[in-house]
Amino acid sequence: MAEERIYEEFGQYIVPSSWKDKVWDIKEYQRFHENTIKDKKAIENWWEKWANKLFWFKKWDRVLDDSNPPFYKWFVGAETNLSYLCLDWQIEQGRKNKLALIWEGEPYDETVKKPKELKKFTYYDLYQQTNRIAYALREKLGVKKDEILTFYMPMIPELLLYMLAVQRLGASHSIVYSGFSALALAERAIAAGSRIIVTADALYRRGKVKPLKEIVDEAVNICEKRGHNIEHVIVVNRTDRPGIPWKEIKDIWHHEFIKDIPENARIEPERLKSDSISYILYTSGTTGKPKGVQHSIGGYAVGLCATMKLIFDINEEDIYWCVADIGWVTGHSYIVYGPLMTGTTTIMYEGAPDYPWPDRWWDIIERYAVTVFYTTPTAIRMLMKFPLDLIKKHDLSTLRIIHSVGEPINPKVFHWYFKNLGREDVVATSTWWMTETGQILTGHFPGLGKIFPLKPGTNGFPLPGVKMEVLDVDGNPCNPGERGYLVISTPWPSMLTTLYQDPERYIDVYWSKFTKNKQWRFYTGDYAVKDQDGYLWVLGRADDVLKVAGHRVGTAEIESAMLMHPTVVESACIGKPHKLKGEVPCIFTVLKQGVSPSPELETELKLHLRKTIGPIVASDAIILFVETVPKTRSGKIMRRLLKAVITGQKLGDITTLEDPTAVKEAERAYQYLK
Ligand code: WT7
Repeated sequence: MAEERIYEEFGQYIVPSSWKDKVWDIKEYQRFHENTIKDKKAIENWWEKWANKLFWFKKWDRVLDDSNPPFYKWFVGAETNLSYLCLDWQIEQGRKNKLALIWEGEPYDETVKKPKELKKFTYYDLYQQTNRIAYALREKLGVKKDEILTFYMPMIPELLLYMLAVQRLGASHSIVYSGFSALALAERAIAAGSRIIVTADALYRRGKVKPLKEIVDEAVNICEKRGHNIEHVIVVNRTDRPGIPWKEIKDIWHHEFIKDIPENARIEPERLKSDSISYILYTSGTTGKPKGVQHSIGGYAVGLCATMKLIFDINEEDIYWCVADIGWVTGHSYIVYGPLMTGTTTIMYEGAPDYPWPDRWWDIIERYAVTVFYTTPTAIRMLMKFPLDLIKKHDLSTLRIIHSVGEPINPKVFHWYFKNLGREDVVATSTWWMTETGQILTGHFPGLGKIFPLKPGTNGFPLPGVKMEVLDVDGNPCNPGERGYLVISTPWPSMLTTLYQDPERYIDVYWSKFTKNKQWRFYTGDYAVKDQDGYLWVLGRADDVLKVAGHRVGTAEIESAMLMHPTVVESACIGKPHKLKGEVPCIFTVLKQGVSPSPELETELKLHLRKTIGPIVASDAIILFVETVPKTRSGKIMRRLLKAVITGQKLGDITTLEDPTAVKEAERAYQYLK
């Protein structure tokens, strides 16, 4: 996507009127920032200040242990528990009756235009229900410390409750987004060594009931075939759907599971070491095998607490809404753990932004008087298509902060929401981070009481306490305005602790690309630019990873899925720019001798992708049939050339290209598509 990004070198400076008197002189911020990263002590001091705002069963002996890089340890010796932080501690601080969670289901009552299901939970409600689930998990299924449960769930409150229940027991979760296929689910459950999967009978999306239990059953079978036993599947009854396949003993209804657990059942939260595993989350990389990003407890909590304040400026009276799905890291950090541990009211909704009405989001913002809104460029691009009247009829004046995440935001999109949602008086930035970072790392920091002038589409500045650089291939800093690779040059508290059971890969993927002067630098995989003022602009992935509607998917995963089909011998996948989704997979496919391309085969292959990876990838994928794909003489696929073909750019250096007809082939296939 890098090439498509329109970034304005000098940008336009915008200051929301409410912030007119509270603007950083950029040099002043840079001095302040510099002071927080100048040495290890400074970094420790900065984060310790935030750690002191949280609850600990036991405080740390050391803030940061960097004696064995890149295996950094934060808050060494300290003990806490995410469930305790999000529930008990909130109650202790007087928030027992405060609204903690507002949840809206998808089915709407057409006549009154209101959701049929709406649930509100106080902190005490969440506390009570989490305890019951934790109790049942421990007493009935023997769940204990260090075990990983896999969740494959819709956006329903039970997901959040199970997360907190598992944390309470000192166990961990691995959430698999409900749009993934049975195969993807099985592979992740096996990799995590889970013996329990929590799911629902089905989910609602755009008016349809989409079965989940059957997918889980299929995954359980795949696990068994591969010698991994899933002992239990806990099923939340979401849709009352008849005819759900059921296996006694293995399958357990959630409502029956907790039925006989008394309301006052309590589980003492485990006192967990800071670097214990809170969760793992599988994400895509440049090889076919997903990476189990492993997160900590203590450091993770500190990073979230700091960013809830710095980035979202969270205060007691805020109503906070992050529209992500909990299946991705954004939902983990900024729907569940971050908002709850800072005592805010968090909103969770099921379904889609534009169903049953294209103004569903604006309706929700108005009804709850949302003040802080966290959204994605993909969704905004989709909602921009609808007439403005749909926005104008809602009172959105409570909004004061609107951030986006997941992919670069084009200045045009920024302007649209800044004006139409934010009446040109909100703080808005594109907050950059990734599954691995656990927490937001760039932005504007209204929580410091001052902001920088906004620039449409920028990612702002690195957080205090975090050094980020843009480097050239040799590891030298790029000049302002020059494109380079984004690296993080200091450890930060919410960072991943390793890749689950694969420390070598952890070092290899993230810490081996930029090692100049023997310094440890985390390679993000992104291209970025720092402009003359020091603002960061992330341009897109520099590696073979696509962002499809903000979701991350590796081209290698798509290619290996294609190869699983009996008619395919080879394929090369690249990202094709797409108006709404940012990019979609474009797959150059070579068929077995004797198999002819046809529209039917194309449909079949798309269906195959849907089954092996999931609909996120498959729904807008483009399959192009070719005789061969361009390769180097050593046999590496030259995706760069394919990208040039579909974006109409120059081919560049082709000296290593083995067979020039491959490029002609790609051009021909692409021409045919047009
Ligand atoms: C990749 C990480 C963590 C949030 C959800 C995505 C891209 C993320 C931005 C942004 C430009 C962004 C990067 C990054 N990305 N936020 N504000 N501006 N690009 O998490 O699935 O781990 O993906 O998303 O390319 O590497 P993820």
